[in-house]
Amino acid sequence: MSLSNRIEQAKDGTRVIGLDNAGIWKQLNCAPYLFHHALANHPLFDIPRLLKLAMGVIDRGDPTKFGLRIEGDAKFNSAPLQDRLLQAIRRVEEGGIWFKLSSLEELDRDYDHILRKMIGEVEDLTGLRLRHDIGWSGITVFVASRNMVTPYHFDNEMNFLFQIRGEKDVRLFDPQNRFVLTENEIERFYAGNPMAGIYRDEALEWSTLFHLTPGTAVHHPPLAPHIVTNGDNVSVSVSFGYALAPELYRARIYQANFCLRLLGFQPLPPGNSRFRDKLKHRTFEMLAKSNPTSHDELMYSGMNRLKAPFRVAKQMIRRTNNP
Ligand SMILES: [Fe+2]
Repeated sequence: MSLSNRIEQAKDGTRVIGLDNAGIWKQLNCAPYLFHHALANHPLFDIPRLLKLAMGVIDRGDPTKFGLRIEGDAKFNSAPLQDRLLQAIRRVEEGGIWFKLSSLEELDRDYDHILRKMIGEVEDLTGLRLRHDIGWSGITVFVASRNMVTPYHFDNEMNFLFQIRGEKDVRLFDPQNRFVLTENEIERFYAGNPMAGIYRDEALEWSTLFHLTPGTAVHHPPLAPHIVTNGDNVSVSVSFGYALAPELYRARIYQANFCLRLLGFQPLPPGNSRFRDKLKHRTFEMLAKSNPTSHDELMYSGMNRLKAPFRVAKQMIRRTNNP
């Protein structure tokens, strides 16, 4: 069934997003803003239910959907993944635990329903027909112990971070400001380095701090760098994200610019030459997989194909030097 039909089907009279001041939605994609939602302490995001889903993902051997960080326990970190997860959940109240589970919409139809419903509501609030431009959409849940920090980074996709349980501070930086976020950082990010953003104290003046409590959410525009700090309690938050066709177009230009810079050129940033932008985009579109099965494949398969011969050469050199 098409995304458009699934969005129509998900409309059932109940709401996910609160009816805040409608004016804030004019800032979609450009600036961050806070809004209210109806998913506070929602049973879909209870920790035991999430644990069951995560165990299923580990059973099926799909590590890309799952992430676990446990601070300061090397012995524990070498245990099998399922044991670590069970212990992490038991210890989440004690501290030092962070885990995420991605693509919830693929794991259970209830999450898919809520994602489509949310996209439909964003369309109603903005008047935009997003469904025709969405190249990828997905839900990721984050569970973290008190005071855990997610370091400074940025993401390609547009994101709505919903606080379900506990509290956290989200500091979002201005992605349009090229002192905050340089062309070089964006190029390295689209070349495959998710931590390409470099934090600078001087950039704080172009940032806004949002305090999230259960029932509030913050909108992250694409590429907006952010730092997330948990409050003094266990936090559950959910990210609803989607990538639109214009962001994908821009990503491919940055991938081309990354390569051009490696070759010693000073490439023009996107938006300065329609002809060059089109050529760069087309080149990386041809390199990319024609039927991507994940957001990562959609974004990075072209770049990975280009890098593949260099990876093989590196391995051969390593093997030759260490027979
Ligand atoms: Fe992020």
